[in-house]
Amino acid sequence: MAASSGSEYFEIDMEGDMFQRQGSWGMDAPEAREDERELMWASVERLPSVRRQHFAVVQRDSQSSFSQAQSLPFEVVDVRRLDRAARERVLNKAFATTNQDNYNLLSGIKSRFDRLLQPNRPTLTILDNVSGVIKPGRMTLLLGPPGSGKTTLLLALAGKLDSNLKKCGEVTYNGCPLNKFVVQRTSAYISQIDKHIGELTVRETLDFAARCQGASNNWAECLKDLAKLEREKNIRPSPEIDAFMKVASVKGRKANLATDYTLKVLGLDVCSDTMVGSDMVRGVSGGQKKRVTTGEMIVGPRKTLFMDEISTGLDSSTTFQIVKCMLNFVHQMEATVLVSLLQPAPETFELFDDLILLSEGHIIYQGPIEKSLEFFQTIGFTIPSRKGVADFLQEVIFDSVPFMY
Ligand SMILES: Nc1ncnc2c1ncn2[C@@H]1O[C@H](COP(=O)(O)OP(=O)(O)OP(=O)(O)O)[C@@H](O)[C@H]1O
Ligand SMILES: [Mg+2]
Repeated sequence: MAASSGSEYFEIDMEGDMFQRQGSWGMDAPEAREDERELMWASVERLPSVRRQHFAVVQRDSQSSFSQAQSLPFEVVDVRRLDRAARERVLNKAFATTNQDNYNLLSGIKSRFDRLLQPNRPTLTILDNVSGVIKPGRMTLLLGPPGSGKTTLLLALAGKLDSNLKKCGEVTYNGCPLNKFVVQRTSAYISQIDKHIGELTVRETLDFAARCQGASNNWAECLKDLAKLEREKNIRPSPEIDAFMKVASVKGRKANLATDYTLKVLGLDVCSDTMVGSDMVRGVSGGQKKRVTTGEMIVGPRKTLFMDEISTGLDSSTTFQIVKCMLNFVHQMEATVLVSLLQPAPETFELFDDLILLSEGHIIYQGPIEKSLEFFQTIGFTIPSRKGVADFLQEVIFDSVPFMY
């Protein structure tokens, strides 16, 4: 076959076939026309790759049909030799509209790239039908095997979910949906991964985080109202607490009392002047770095904290200490804290008020921690003697283990 415009060098052995079919189907039938186009496309595909990019199947000029072959609606052309009219036909077809709207053309080009970049992947449901309440003033533990969706749940609650993930449902804070307020100023997500500026010292890192989050502003505002009310009611505060709050409320200083407080709470005062370090620079130890990550978030004024496996790299007594400090914070300040931990020690586990058990994206149990064993007993899982509750619960929800109980 030889195409009319620009396809002089194009030789494909399909003519005979094509005309036979044309006779039997009739060229007006849309299926027949589509088949002919497929045939042409297949012959272009069969060309060596260097030549293939020079040939395309295009709509034939309807005015110039002389022979039976040319009455076919499509032709294969050499794209290097198109005349102006042919180029216009290609453009009009690609626009796929009579006006100047280029949407179809651009979305067609984009989807051609997208098909390659994002091949059809199976859908993975990370969290399925998850609903519940996390109460203020109660410390909640999130337990689940690796890959069960703990990080995803914490990110979803903190409003930081990957924008590429499809999501439905709603997260609300006191009944207020996430798009009605700045969730980043209300809650903090403490990452499983430590990301720091390695050249800053531990103290500098926390000072910087405190200033970014306006830690002193919060104390200053709270102190102003408090002092006014106390004067009205003739109440005298404890001098130590008054001094602490006044020092913490000093604005505009590089060093902040909130930093010293956080360093003490997290046991980081021993390494406060050591560089945090990175892959290139040796700095504090792995466990200390983990605590710096936690410190960066709790140094600020936010009272809703989502802490993701803060115990990685820490010994059980340090984890216990940190969780205990968080517990005091939760109980005294009515804060809302959800902590995911991997294998908490029994004494750490007992510090928590509530428990959420997650398995393969489903909530298996949500409620007071002391009722959890009772719940599993009612469905036939009894804890063996000398077994830690946290270990037992994690094993029960793990696919391959429950038959042991
Ligand atoms: N952005 C994403 N794209 C694709 N898959 C994801 C994405 N985020 C999470 N996943 C998948 O969702 C599942 C749950 O991941 P997630 O990080 O929430 O688990 P996890 O419970 O925190 O695990 P771990 O205890 O190991 O930290 C995993 O199978 C993970 O591969
Ligand atoms: Mg995780």
